[in-house]
Amino acid sequence: MALSGAALLLLATAALFLRYGAEAAASSKVCVVGSGIGGSSVAHFLKHYTCAKSAEVPCMDDIRILERSRRVGGRMATVTIGGDTFEAGASIIHPKNRHALGFARLLNLNTKTEDDSDYDPKSNVSSSSSWFGIWDGSRFVFQTLPPPSSSSSALYRKMYPLLNSLVIFWRYGISLIRMNRFVKEMVEKFLLYYTNLETRPVFETVEEMLKWSGLYGLTRRTLHEELVDAGMSSRLISELVTVITRINYGQDVSISGLAGTVSLAGSDSGLWSVDGGNWQLAAGLIGHTNATLHLHEEIDSISYTGGYYELNSTKGNSYTCEVTVIATPLDELNITFIPPVSVPSRRLQHTFTTFVRGLLNPKYFGLNSASEIPDLVGTLELPDIPFSCVSVLKKYNEEDMTYKMFSRAPLDDSLLDSIFSKRKETIRIDWAAYPHYEAPEVFAPIVLDGAHLYYINSFENAASTIETSAVAAENVARLIISRVSALSSDASIVMPPISAEEVLHTDL
Ligand SMILES: Cc1cc2nc3c(=O)[nH]c(=O)nc-3n(C[C@H](O)[C@H](O)[C@H](O)COP(=O)(O)OP(=O)(O)OC[C@H]3O[C@@H](n4cnc5c(N)ncnc54)[C@H](O)[C@@H]3O)c2cc1C
Ligand SMILES: *[C@@H]1O[C@H](CO)[C@@H](O)[C@H](O)[C@H]1NC(C)=O
Ligand SMILES: *[C@@H]1O[C@H](CO)[C@@H](O)[C@H](O)[C@H]1NC(C)=O
Ligand SMILES: *[C@@H]1O[C@H](CO)[C@@H](O)[C@H](O)[C@H]1NC(C)=O
Ligand SMILES: *[C@@H]1O[C@H](CO)[C@@H](O)[C@H](O)[C@H]1NC(C)=O
Repeated sequence: MALSGAALLLLATAALFLRYGAEAAASSKVCVVGSGIGGSSVAHFLKHYTCAKSAEVPCMDDIRILERSRRVGGRMATVTIGGDTFEAGASIIHPKNRHALGFARLLNLNTKTEDDSDYDPKSNVSSSSSWFGIWDGSRFVFQTLPPPSSSSSALYRKMYPLLNSLVIFWRYGISLIRMNRFVKEMVEKFLLYYTNLETRPVFETVEEMLKWSGLYGLTRRTLHEELVDAGMSSRLISELVTVITRINYGQDVSISGLAGTVSLAGSDSGLWSVDGGNWQLAAGLIGHTNATLHLHEEIDSISYTGGYYELNSTKGNSYTCEVTVIATPLDELNITFIPPVSVPSRRLQHTFTTFVRGLLNPKYFGLNSASEIPDLVGTLELPDIPFSCVSVLKKYNEEDMTYKMFSRAPLDDSLLDSIFSKRKETIRIDWAAYPHYEAPEVFAPIVLDGAHLYYINSFENAASTIETSAVAAENVARLIISRVSALSSDASIVMPPISAEEVLHTDL
């Protein structure tokens, strides 16, 4: 390589300010590849931090988002089956995910918590997340209590959640308390990423970012190693924890510790989602930012030529950009980089999501009636079980339900015909879902070329969620602002102060 990173950066920055403000239509200050939560959040934070009245840097509102799909949202998407719409990708958000919560408030989106759907007296439709069973391929090794029926006493209805907790505690004992404490400690550290801008550094690498919060160590070892050291029983690990990591990341407890702990936090209470679909977070942010959005525009080459980036699409369009942000995993893409960039190879875990309107076959589970099958069936890490989980999304009546299944391989018709006794409609989605987590994790750079090519999804090797994408995007936005302005003036960057009542950082 002829030019050092610093020289490249100087060149890029010089070009940036020469070109700023006087460009033809196809030229932008910032181009973002991908319109998922990462791409939409980086656009939002760039504008939010630079266009406020008190900001001392030029307003960066010239943002172009390129999206290969015909819709925004990426892995936040809905599916419609039997006339009803459900989350097909990212479905639940943790109550302490402050960016997601802030976005929902900023955009006036209605949210619903999991508990809302437990009992809906206005319709016959019910879905209960608390009746779950653990299937080992031939029997349920454990299950919680079935939900109260219409004939149950008021007392039983009231006591049901408590009784269920007791049933779980009876099986897993004190290890459950240790697990909750372990998850809580991780969440506490993660909350550091919301602390104010004066005390929170801008990070140039994922390693630095994780070390600062104290979470890096968890990416070095497997979840299994971490949980054993924290005193959890082998029964808890091989049953409940395994079921949860299989549901959330399609992998077992050999997953790296941070991703595993994040996945355990996904079984906390108070989980929520956006009414009508989480994809509206991305759509809303893009609208709010007033970014220029190109749908059905797949970028296949990114060339760095004389101080700016040229992004070419498969449609033959060409966009020049001063800053380029990659907001999608590069692992299964064929984007040609000129000059080439080096990203450590990473395997993605594919999660096959199968929606079925019909009825599960009780015989498959060795039962007499479908009503004896728990609403959520999780599975152990055993070779012959063809799916990770199956759950009821909606109960129309005792004979007619909509289910969602996750599996590591596609489920063919003959297999589905053995698992279901009735199958009116089936929809299959193959997600390149998240990284295949392996400790110790290796992280791609955030700055891919030493200049102004940024990669948000390098953070996905820590964990993959809506919130972690937003947190990684917020850091990338600050990194862009500080690197663009650092060489443009001697004064160091001053961003607008974040007040306590600021929408993005309001507490619950
Ligand atoms: C089945 C499943 C369940 C999940 N459950 C949850 C959950 O319950 N809670 C949670 O928080 N997270 C969950 N996740 C993870 C969550 O969906 C992701 O971490 C998050 O949505 C990633 O957002 P992103 O913006 O980084 O990437 P993406 O959403 O993947 O966005 C990338 C975008 O880039 C576009 N793109 C790709 N290549 C190009 C190109 N060459 N040119 C132009 N555009 C391109 C893609 O079309 C896509 O729209 C789940 C994921 C899956 C698959
Ligand atoms: C509830 O079920 C009963 C009997 O199956 C039916 O008559 C009624 O219309 C249903 N109500 C709703 C809101 O679906
Ligand atoms: C949004 O962008 C368009 C051009 O892309 C511009 O005409 C319009 O004034 C912008 N609106 C706001 C509110 O900034
Ligand atoms: C991108 O498109 C431009 C304009 O069509 C072309 O000149 C250039 O060679 C293309 N770059 C690549 C890498 O294909
Ligand atoms: C990338 O290119 C290879 C070889 O041309 C092809 O087999 C593969 O399907 C492509 N991958 C994607 C995601 O387009």
